[in-house]
Amino acid sequence: MQDKKVCVVGLGYVGLPLAAVCASKGYEVTGFDTDEKKLEKIKAGKSPFREEFLEELLPKVKIKAAHDINDIKNQDIYLICVPTPVDEKYLPDLSPVIGASQMVAENMSKGALVVLESTVNPGVSEDVVLPIFEKAGFQIGKDFHLSHCPERVNPGDPKWNVGNIPRVVGSIEEEGLRRTKEFYKSIVDAEIMAMESIREAEAVKILENSFRDVNIAFVNELAMSLSKLGIDVTNVIKGASTKPYAFMAHWPSCGVGGHCIPVDPYYMIEKGKEYNFDHKFLKTARNINNHMPFYTVELLQDLLNNIEKNIKGAKIGVLGVSYKANVGDLRESPALVIIEDLKNRGAEVIIYDPYIPQLSTVESVEKLLADSEAVILATNHKELEAITADDFARNNVRVVVDGKNCLDKKTIRARGVIYAGIGR
Ligand SMILES: NC(=O)c1ccc[n+]([C@@H]2O[C@H](COP(=O)([O-])OP(=O)(O)OC[C@H]3O[C@@H](n4cnc5c(N)ncnc54)[C@H](O)[C@@H]3O)[C@@H](O)[C@H]2O)c1
Repeated sequence: MQDKKVCVVGLGYVGLPLAAVCASKGYEVTGFDTDEKKLEKIKAGKSPFREEFLEELLPKVKIKAAHDINDIKNQDIYLICVPTPVDEKYLPDLSPVIGASQMVAENMSKGALVVLESTVNPGVSEDVVLPIFEKAGFQIGKDFHLSHCPERVNPGDPKWNVGNIPRVVGSIEEEGLRRTKEFYKSIVDAEIMAMESIREAEAVKILENSFRDVNIAFVNELAMSLSKLGIDVTNVIKGASTKPYAFMAHWPSCGVGGHCIPVDPYYMIEKGKEYNFDHKFLKTARNINNHMPFYTVELLQDLLNNIEKNIKGAKIGVLGVSYKANVGDLRESPALVIIEDLKNRGAEVIIYDPYIPQLSTVESVEKLLADSEAVILATNHKELEAITADDFARNNVRVVVDGKNCLDKKTIRARGVIYAGIGR
């Protein structure tokens, strides 16, 4: 291996598994983060978040967890994995990418390869990151290389992880591309595809996540429409899935969360504005998916009307707060919007999430069911999917809104509990 020392900047859901895989492949790894609490856990060989693959790997590998800038000097490769959020107006916030790039530029030596893994719109590497290094005196291709390799990791996925997901890489010049490809080939046991430009690599990630957002918005719209006809949209999607080509199932739900799908399309929407392009499709998808938590609460009110109850003053249980099953990640979680909307409408909200004890108001599913008149299931954690019709009936839960369409509709209704899913 020509490159031996790797520095990962940002040890979150993306950076920490990446650092662990690099270390497992023989690289000398330094992980830098601004969050000292996180670093303490990593130093103790523990993952700051629940991730089976990482929890197994971390104790077996050596990562120098650093908060001191001096520790990031003289590295061969810098992998920037910092957040790329949007602000309250959905405008991209590139300050972590800019801050991390400045820090690397001030501390690296000539010959380094810098790879941005954070998700960005086409143009950020060349128009925002490159000038930072040039200003620090580094000439691209001569003094350093700059590449983009969008991360595709899917937290909580038992099959796909940073070690086996195919990657695309883009760079600014040929030697940078060659070196980046070689590095990723040494850590990933899957295809590494070289793109023709760094902008193409940036656009790949935007395409992937916008594709998800748009398709989910479409089935959410269909769910809201078909439910008015008394048609179960999940059965319709299962039927369509028997077509062996040109159909890919996406599923409706109470909303889209996480740091990627509800965020990345905004980066493209804003970029388009720079050259007077209106991304109507992406904006519509975002609007539909952002509306789903409110639709879910309205659905609950519709069902409560059947028993002449109002959300105001009712005891409503919310099962699951994290944005997806079997992880403890709260970012952009639709459940948070549901909880806020319920509170705004005057409900007494009872919360349980086995992965988020800090927000749970009770310590078990059983206690939540015992205390609630109606329930919204907002996350399909395995513990929550296992709730049966008998559990609801036994605890006198009268109304169930299944925000993830994961419960047994027929048996729940057969026990006299009022049930609705999203389009089901
Ligand atoms: N989470 C995912 O599933 C996922 C998947 C693919 C791509 N991505 C992309 O990867 C990037 C990182 O996402 P994440 O989920 O790992 O975020 P995260 O919030 O889990 O981790 C980012 C880490 O960076 C640290 N940090 C912030 N600013 C810093 C700085 N200036 N210097 C050093 N450290 C800094 C934070 O303390 C945090 O620990 C984002 O662009 C995201 O869109 C995320």
